[in-house]
Formats: sequence, C-alpha cells, structure tokens
Amino acid sequence: MKTLTTAAGTTPAAISDPYRPAFHYTSERNWLNDPNGLVYLNGTYHLFYQHNPFGPDWGNMSWGHATSEDLLNWDEQPVAIACDEHEAIFSGSAVFDEFNTSGFGTAINPPLVAIYTSAYSDASPLAGRQAQSLAYSLDEGMTWTKYQGNPVLDRASADFRDPKVFWYDGGAGRYWVMVAVEAVHRQVVLYKSADLRSWDFLSTFGPANATGGVWECPDLFELTVDGDPEDSHWVLIVNISPGGIAGGSAGQYFLGTFDGVAFRSKSTVTEGLQADASRMREYGWLDWGRDYYAAVSFNNVPDGRRIMIGWMNNWDYAGSTPTGGWRSSMSLPREVRLTRVDGQVLLRQKAIDPFAGPEDGGFRLGARALAPGVTDLPVTAAVARIDLEFSPGPAAGVGLVLRAGEAERMLIRYDTTDGMLRLDRRESGHVGFHEAFPSVESVAVPLQDGRLRLRIYLDRCSVEVFAQDGLATITDLVFAAEASTAMAIFADGAGAHLVALDVVGY
Ligand code: FRU
Repeated sequence: MKTLTTAAGTTPAAISDPYRPAFHYTSERNWLNDPNGLVYLNGTYHLFYQHNPFGPDWGNMSWGHATSEDLLNWDEQPVAIACDEHEAIFSGSAVFDEFNTSGFGTAINPPLVAIYTSAYSDASPLAGRQAQSLAYSLDEGMTWTKYQGNPVLDRASADFRDPKVFWYDGGAGRYWVMVAVEAVHRQVVLYKSADLRSWDFLSTFGPANATGGVWECPDLFELTVDGDPEDSHWVLIVNISPGGIAGGSAGQYFLGTFDGVAFRSKSTVTEGLQADASRMREYGWLDWGRDYYAAVSFNNVPDGRRIMIGWMNNWDYAGSTPTGGWRSSMSLPREVRLTRVDGQVLLRQKAIDPFAGPEDGGFRLGARALAPGVTDLPVTAAVARIDLEFSPGPAAGVGLVLRAGEAERMLIRYDTTDGMLRLDRRESGHVGFHEAFPSVESVAVPLQDGRLRLRIYLDRCSVEVFAQDGLATITDLVFAAEASTAMAIFADGAGAHLVALDVVGY
C-alpha cells in the first residue's frame, strides 16, 4: 500500500477524520473540484485543480497543485495560479511548450503553459464574461506568471470555458488545438494556434446525445484499438451537469474522426437539444456512477499512455458532503484504451493500482458453490482492493455487501434477470445530508463465458467498481461509519458459483 503525504508532511491516517481518503488525492484543507492542467514533465506528474484556498466551500477559484512520480503518492504544493479581484481561475489545461512556440521561455528552458478560463468579476472591465487566458512557468510548474496580454481568446460569452489544449501533428499540419465549451449551448468549440497566444476558429461539435445540462470540461485525443496503429479513433470527452446517466454530473464520450479541423462522431445517437430520455443508456458514458465528473486526461505522458482523472463528486450535492476542513477528492487515475468486443469498439479503463499485488498477501477464497442467501466473510475492510469473479448460473442475482455495520451496508449486485450491475448506497451510512444522495446506480454488463469479473477499490468514503476488466465502471461516494467494515457475499437462489475472491487492504 502506498501512503499519501500532504504539504504539512502528515499522513492522512494521522488526521482524525474517518472519511479522509487513504489513497485518493485530496487537498489537506479546503475545497477542491475539477482536475486541471494535468501534465507530465521530466518524471513528474502535475495535478492542478480547482481549489478554494480559503475555505471548504466553492469560491475564490484558483489552481491548487500537487505533484507525483507515480500517480499515487501526491505532494501538495503551494497554490499555482491564484484568483484576484478581477478574475477567478476556472478550469483548463497545461502543455509542455517544448519548442517555445509561445516565446515565454527560451530554447534551452522551454515553458509549461497553462491555458485557463478567466471568469471575470464585477470589478473587471470584462465583468460577466468567461474568456481563455495564459500563465507560464519556467521552473517546471512550481511558480506561474500570468500573461500580460490576457485574455487570448474572448468570444464575449458568459459561458465559454474549460479549454483543453494539445499539440496536433497530423494530415492538416502541426499546431496547437483548443477544445473548449459554450456550456449553455451544449457545444464544443475548436480553435487552432501556432503560438498559444492567437487563436483561429476551426469548428463546433454538438449539441448531441446527452444535453440535459451544461457541457463542461471537454477533451479530445486519439487512441488505437487494441494497440493496432492502423485502427485508431478520436475520443471526444464531454462532461455534463446535470443530465448525467445516474443523475447530476457525469462524463460522456463520443468516438469519431478528427482531421485537424472538425470532430465527426461515429457514435452519436441523438442530435440537437431535444434529449430523448429513453435513449440515455445508448450513449457513451465514462462512468455509470454519481461521482466521476470533470474527467480529463494528462498531456505529454510517455509511451502514448492516456491517463484520466475525475473529480469524485457531483454538483447535485458537492457543497454538502460531510467531511471536515477538506472537501472532495480525485478519482484514482485511470488508463483508458480502446478495445474491440464482439465487433464493437469500447472504452476500457484500468486504475493505477495503489496495492502492490496479490503477493502482498491478503484474504483469498477459492472456487466454491454459493449457498443461497448471505455468506458473511471472515475479513473486514474500509480501504481495500477487492477482486471478485462470479459465475451466477441460474441464480437470480449474486453480489457483495461492503461497509456493513449495525444498520448500514452498501450493495454491489448483479441481476441475471436483466443483466444489470447495480450499486446501492441507499443505506450506506450517512446519506441524509442531501436528498439527492441516496441512490442506486446501474449499468448493463454482459457476462463473459457466463462470468462476471469485478475489481473494486474501496477507500474511506468512496468505491470505484471496474466490471469485466474495466469495460464498465461505477464510482460513488459512500459515507459509512468507521466501524462498518464487515463484508459478505450473497446469491439469490441456488446454482451460483464463486470463482475467486481476493481482498487486499485493511
Ligand atoms: C466544472 C466547472 C467548470 C468550471 C469550474 C469552476 O465542474 O463548473 O465548468 O470551469 O467547474 O470551478
């Protein structure tokens, strides 16, 4: 197990707070939302994020900063880009400007450049607008200078935000591409630039698929299918809030082509603003839970790996979650790939694993028939990696009970009757802080050779479920009592088998 250290050098376990995560990033104090400026440089992963340096509620938006060499052990750094009387620093991205195209650095010391949204306050001549601005760092991300010429891209819009910039090198040439949103119009807007300072309009995408809330935090990248360089697709990420698949905030994705000018979707189900609620399950969702939002990917990761992080919360109740002087954490970083299953191209996600591996020891239950009903397990955990494989057979359902105590538990259940995997947190402990919190999430998961495989990461106030090797995921916050660590497996009816269960954790 890895441990986290915070700016003050304390381990989270030392802080008396039952919900403080053991292996998910959270700032030591105060509010956090979207991951921003995810970028790798010279052995260090940089996680910037929406942060209120002055309190546990949203406000004073600035970019917090944490660094890591392995995406698991994070060191909190000083605030990177601070709000001032004229602007809040909303979400955006960061690029390594290797060839100093921006001129902010030199050939021998090229800059990191952050592209963020200036949300202008009443004190600003641009009050009420959102426009894109730059800041640069000449010391590998530790200190930042706002560009004098900000903003660099202003559409006189109140909802133009969340720029993701990447270096395009393809048939149409070599230049920077920005994907941002006109949030209220449910539209992604694309621009290009040679120097990050001046931007030319390329195209728009949307509205399409889920449009029941504002579009935020887009991303665009290319992935090969099962590593085949001849078979690649572009993935357009569009976060949406509310109007997500499980209610409130969520991330959707489109597969398609990008020719350097326009993204064309091959996976659009519905077009326009008239969302058809009955088709929501046909859209591409990054995660089917309530608490995986504003997910975007790192720039500049070696070996073409695409690693995403989401904010583990939901705007429906983010301001009410019952934690101490800190609020919200990030998801585990997830490597995303494309894979072909039964002729269909699907997204597969694999978390960077905070547990060293089965050789670590832990609890193991080998293959056996499952007795109908609930079987208590002789192991407890609040922080764990759980690998589980079921062969449900003719049973109506199988599943796992986690964080069980006197009067509470969380259920992960597979219903063979409708082929749905469900996560039920309605009685998982502290659920009454917001009426939207008690919920049951669900996703269709086809059995593979009659089997269901689950990998579950349990932390002190969250659960991330990866089904069938990451073809579907459910991420939810769970605020169980500290003492509620019992576990059980169950089968509804006879004929189900457990293939194996492995628990590493405590
Ligand atoms: C998404 C979001 C972004 C915005 C930021 C403000 O969660 O609303 O659109 O830039 O949060 O904190």
